[in-house]
Amino acid sequence: MQINVESGDITQSAAKAIIVNLFQGVTGPAGATGAVDRALDGGISNLIAEGEIKGKKGEVAVVHSLGKMPSPRVLVAGLGKQEGFSVDVVRDLMGTALRRARGTGAKTVATIVHGAGIAGLDAEACAQAITEGALMGTYRFRRYKNGGEDETADIETLTIVEQDGSKLDALRRGVERGTIMAQAANHTRDMANEPANELPPSALAERARILCGDAGVDFEVLNDSQIRELGMGALLGVGIGSAQPPRFIIMRYRGAPDSEKTLGLLGKGITFDSGGISIKPAAGMEAMKGDMSGGAAVIATMWAIGKLKPAINVTGLVPTAENMPSGSATRPGDVVRAMNGKTIEVINTDAEGRLILADAICYARQEKLSPIVDVATLTGAMQIALGPGATGFFATDDGLAEAITSAGAKSGERMWRFPLIEEYAEGLKSNVADIKNTGPRNGGAINAGKFLHFFVEDSTWAHIDMAGTDDSEKDKGVWVKGSTGIPTRTLINFVLGWAGRG
Ligand code: BES
Ligand code: MN
Ligand code: ZN
Repeated sequence: MQINVESGDITQSAAKAIIVNLFQGVTGPAGATGAVDRALDGGISNLIAEGEIKGKKGEVAVVHSLGKMPSPRVLVAGLGKQEGFSVDVVRDLMGTALRRARGTGAKTVATIVHGAGIAGLDAEACAQAITEGALMGTYRFRRYKNGGEDETADIETLTIVEQDGSKLDALRRGVERGTIMAQAANHTRDMANEPANELPPSALAERARILCGDAGVDFEVLNDSQIRELGMGALLGVGIGSAQPPRFIIMRYRGAPDSEKTLGLLGKGITFDSGGISIKPAAGMEAMKGDMSGGAAVIATMWAIGKLKPAINVTGLVPTAENMPSGSATRPGDVVRAMNGKTIEVINTDAEGRLILADAICYARQEKLSPIVDVATLTGAMQIALGPGATGFFATDDGLAEAITSAGAKSGERMWRFPLIEEYAEGLKSNVADIKNTGPRNGGAINAGKFLHFFVEDSTWAHIDMAGTDDSEKDKGVWVKGSTGIPTRTLINFVLGWAGRG
């Protein structure tokens, strides 16, 4: 989709659909919506009076213009209540409205700058939200579809129409940044939605190589023998049951060559999680093709950072393996040795994410990365705790926690901090090794966090457990069914915000 910014009057647009908006409870629309209403001889206000248009969040009413305007149809998108209105509403609104516009067959769409008018939000931020909503909300994963009757064509152009010419530069900057943010989230989705037979660890590494090449980020990948030489026994042990050997992906961006500091982003890259010998139940197991979403988000973030070029050094690490049962698979009771020499008793082979991350954390510490931020679909317990409305995270440091929370808020991806409860380390004590990979059932997300903490030692660290938010069961605002792309935009905003702090 091409997104243009133009100065002009939306009532004069010849696009096949135009999008205006309405706050809940407003009976006489003003601004651009008012101008369109007048052009339609009160067509919108009549429907408001009839109770057909309410302006509720998520509502999109289609009004046909029947020759009264150049554009054949007007989509009136609900903004919800005036209090609590934000760019998050704008982003979601654009996703919902453009899916609706696409459903009408419209290939050209024009929109006003939702939020920058009466609501008085920053124009650049609104344009960014519009762009993110448009590109993420119309995302489709169609690689394996041969098409069909209900397949509507893509929208080709979206024109953002603004009357005030002095705002155009700000709007264009917003579109530019929003495009990179949304494309990054969609890159994450492309990787996460890909079936596991088509995206084993070697293929995930190839995706990373291509994206890094496109963005000017240094790329390196270690194969299984190099992983063995480094002593990453935990990563090897997870991948050993699969015919597809593990990889360790290293991506380096240096935007502050004079600085000694480098931020570390680590992502879980399990291309399929069958559970291994501790095999998962059949129902829903297909969702485990997305168990590399954290790794995908890190790869996509490195791509976006390469494009946005902030003044900061960032290294992205993605340990990637396929967790399968077989005659060569790791058994419950086996002991593996991580890169730092610490030994782990594998109680449950389905607690594999923490194992591969342990080796990635060791590598990050050896490279002196700080802070270390890992991202993983780590525990079903986190999914149960928070559901789809927030992503849980842990942090050793309040400043880091605050930076993650605000990066999430800026992205419309709510981040919620959980405690690292020291006593829970007790539950991870092993009879035969330095630690075991599972603790009690209760507090499962925290136990996983404490397992990682054992390898983090005194590093400054945050751990994002996105098990409940990595995919969506339905289309909703910027989300479409399948991978959400969370927390890609949060990570990008976090890195942009951290630039300057080291
Ligand atoms: N990948 C799963 C966690 C998961 C569950 C992600 C649901 C997304 C949706 C992880 O590897 C796992 O299997 N965790 C186990 C740990 C347990 C064995 C201690 C879990 O949460 O059940
Ligand atoms: Mn698992
Ligand atoms: Zn897993």
